[in-house]
Amino acid sequence: MNALAHQTAAGFETRFGYAPTGVWSAPGRVNLIGEHTDYNEGFVFPFAINRRTYAAVALRADGIARVASAFSSEVHEVSLDAIARDDSLDWAAYPLGVAWAVRTIANQLNRDYEATGFDCYIESDVPVGAGLSSSAAIECAVSTALNELWNTGLTRSELARAGQLGENEIVGAPTGIMDQSASLLGQADHGVFLDCRSLEAQVIELGFAKDGLELLIIDTKVAHRLVDGGYASRRAACEDGAAIMNVGSLRDLEESDLEAAEAKMTDVTFRRVRHVVTENNRVLETVKRLQETGPRSIGDLMYASHKSMRDDFKISVDELDTAVETALRHGAVGARMTGGGFGGAAIALTPIERISEVTNSIYAEFEQCGYARPDVFAVSAANGATREF
Ligand code: GLA
Repeated sequence: MNALAHQTAAGFETRFGYAPTGVWSAPGRVNLIGEHTDYNEGFVFPFAINRRTYAAVALRADGIARVASAFSSEVHEVSLDAIARDDSLDWAAYPLGVAWAVRTIANQLNRDYEATGFDCYIESDVPVGAGLSSSAAIECAVSTALNELWNTGLTRSELARAGQLGENEIVGAPTGIMDQSASLLGQADHGVFLDCRSLEAQVIELGFAKDGLELLIIDTKVAHRLVDGGYASRRAACEDGAAIMNVGSLRDLEESDLEAAEAKMTDVTFRRVRHVVTENNRVLETVKRLQETGPRSIGDLMYASHKSMRDDFKISVDELDTAVETALRHGAVGARMTGGGFGGAAIALTPIERISEVTNSIYAEFEQCGYARPDVFAVSAANGATREF
């Protein structure tokens, strides 16, 4: 029995005064490699983690949507037809935005369905602001529930698109499709290798446990927010770079094009472009090595990815760099910052026998640097969104 799922049902009943029809859940994700490549139609390789968001849901007949959660006392209430970008929605923009987006996509696909209102209560153990996609977890738990209750019949890929659309249009964050894809398509012990151009996804065995490894998350507690300008300005620089090179997206460039690119653009734009082009190749190489030589052989690719984000894409912060360097110095096979950047979490692929050394060294180093105490914990690859009961 899943305690948090039942707690979510109980929370629904306390807030709304009746029992939900069911509880659906979706995981957060960690990105093993492939950062800021998704909106450039490139490759990503995230996995769903064993931290989940739960949504207890029931339909209402009156076209009203009410959303509440364990992390705030407010209940947001809005007519389904009136959902629009509105800063006062705060966290409720995620569940309401995805409800709007499920309808929008079902309409585009001419699905025969009836979208009534709904009540929804959310509970989660995905850390917020850590770069582990707590927002995608909300979107995917809610969209999986509504897809079933409304009979919209969207596939998991279409639901991923709905999550992204809601986040882009209603939340106002210009993010790509990686997080929702991982949350919906994840499988235990597997990573999701996604081509963000064709949206073709392949699950690839990670084999960490077999090789005596665990993936540690180092949540630096430096809050990152994707609606702030840094993410959008990186995305804009990538679009500029593609336009200057006369290609539809940076996916169309090879490493052999970089010399020509350097001659045509500012140093800043060139560095953004170089990160994306080289990162795509690192994703492909990571997948290949995992299959051919196993996870102990991907460490240098993880660190190369980190350096590229630190030096070229410029989205790391001192705390992330410290976490990565300390983990590597104390026996991690590979380490890098993960997610959108400007804070959030780093990951360290660590041999089981070195976990306490790596963990304690990070705590000590952060203390010495005068940084806030980070959270260090292991995650494993889990199944994607599902109905709990
Ligand atoms: C955030 C976005 C994703 C992706 C990453 C960076 O997590 O939501 O779409 O762009 O940043 O790789």
